[in-house]
Amino acid sequence: MVTEEDRALLAAALDAQSRAYCPFSRYPVGAAVRTACGKVYTGCNVESASFSLTCCAERVAVFKAVSDGYRDLVACSIVTSDRTPAPPCGACRQVLYEFGRSMRIVLGNPEGEVRISQISDLLPDGFTPEHLLSRTEVAEELD
Ligand code: THU
Repeated sequence: MVTEEDRALLAAALDAQSRAYCPFSRYPVGAAVRTACGKVYTGCNVESASFSLTCCAERVAVFKAVSDGYRDLVACSIVTSDRTPAPPCGACRQVLYEFGRSMRIVLGNPEGEVRISQISDLLPDGFTPEHLLSRTEVAEELD
């Protein structure tokens, strides 16, 4: 079910999409994340003439939230102009999972089509900080 909160987060992502810097791909993306306390941070994709330096919209939104001190993210909306709303890339799934293991993912397009999922469905068995802490040598040192 698409909630009022989903619609508000999609509207924020749609607004951010209008500021995408994507002269090379011509594929504008907007994203918005909602923190546990209800704040919303937006992002757009920012490309570079040195192509591999491009940053996706989702990561821009997450990094803005985290750099402002908000690490607990409950939802992320993503807007592309595809006919069918497009899901986040693999790298962004991993970054989203870091800050919200049960994050709601709300995909949309300018026509108002919406797809809802959970980050744990998009990224089953994601890598977590706990994996680093359970390294054999660290575990042994702690024993
Ligand atoms: N892009 C995103 O912003 N998010 C994604 O999840 C997938 C791809 C951007 C990166 C690049 O600027 C353009 O879309 C084409 O790949």
